Amino acid sequence: MADKKQSSNDKFIPKIVVFACNWCSYAGADSAGINRIQYSPYFRIIRVMCSGRVHPNFVLKAFLDGADGVIVSGCHFGDCHYIFGNYRAVDNFEKTKALIHTLGLEEERIRLEWISAAEGVRFGQVINEFVDQIKKLGRSPIAEN
Ligand code: FES
Repeated sequence: MADKKQSSNDKFIPKIVVFACNWCSYAGADSAGINRIQYSPYFRIIRVMCSGRVHPNFVLKAFLDGADGVIVSGCHFGDCHYIFGNYRAVDNFEKTKALIHTLGLEEERIRLEWISAAEGVRFGQVINEFVDQIKKLGRSPIAEN
């Protein structure tokens, strides 16, 4: 039985949404591309002006539309172009965690990351780690139903 689940997870192609702030994380993704960093292609980026803009409803909508995992990514503390935006992102993320528990989703399906414009390698690592994590969890129960 475990082998069957492992085998089906090997074939599973996750759908991952990455909300990336324009000034740091989106530029980090750009840097990964420019430097030809190899990383998983199983994600789509939604560019937002600041990680603090990502309301919990955005994440819930992504899951309702079939995402298996969601990353919210922004500038490191002290680098946010809107000063306190990433602190707001932390608050929003905590609220999001509570909401996804209510929906019966695992907390590991969401992740908050700080990635700067210079961290293309790190962007690739975060994506690869998260894709592996979501592959282990399997299809989101919401997407499945
Ligand atoms: Fe990047 Fe606010 S501008 S987190």
